[in-house]
Amino acid sequence: MTAPRKLAVGNWKMNGLRADLHEARKLAAEFPSPSADIVLCPPATLIGAMAAALVGSSVRVGGQDCHFNSSGAHTGDISAGMLADAGAYHVILGHSERRADHGEASVMVAQKARAAHAAGLTAIICIGETEAERDSGQTLDVVLDQMKHSMPDSASAANTVIAYEPVWAIGTGRTPTLDQVAQVHDALRANLPDAGISLLYGGSVKPANAAEIFAIKNVDGALVGGASLKADDFGAIVAALDRA
Ligand code: PGA
Repeated sequence: MTAPRKLAVGNWKMNGLRADLHEARKLAAEFPSPSADIVLCPPATLIGAMAAALVGSSVRVGGQDCHFNSSGAHTGDISAGMLADAGAYHVILGHSERRADHGEASVMVAQKARAAHAAGLTAIICIGETEAERDSGQTLDVVLDQMKHSMPDSASAANTVIAYEPVWAIGTGRTPTLDQVAQVHDALRANLPDAGISLLYGGSVKPANAAEIFAIKNVDGALVGGASLKADDFGAIVAALDRA
């Protein structure tokens, strides 16, 4: 098998105005990565402008969601083809905030991923257990079930990335132990349809904990929320990934 690619993805969520594009430019100019792919996923309103700002750099732009249909009467939604047309190469799908705020179940995430693949995008599919699920010992069952049902048949190392994000670790400053991350990532790797698919960890990744997380076997990179908004912080995380 080809080794999974190292990848750092920044998820700006519902943060960022045109004035913040300088952070993307700064990231590209000051933190080039010799070994990892870098992707920034701003809100949809900034995708075109960010793609234009990053022309000539190796930092790529991604969306945070797409519809499963390619066009039609879906007010407020955006298709995968539109993201690609605006300059995106990736799209985050099934983030726990989408699953919670918009009732997205794994079956729908798989439909969205199929649409992303059809548009030539790489799908970054998110999975993760709640705190109650972890406390009741269901973590592996939950994440393996989510991964199985969120991944379409079209998934391969060329077009799919899996991000393990414990729901209780997102935006909380709390992280699982290194052993807990390792246990989940080992199980995910063993159950991937294509072992070359990159596995990201996400949830309160910051410069101070990035190196120890990237040292874990079967962790190929990170999906970073809050710490991706500032080029210095995200750049430090990228540098840790390069050293891993
Ligand atoms: P966080 O978010 O890094 O702010 O915890 C991660 C994510 O939701 O992707």
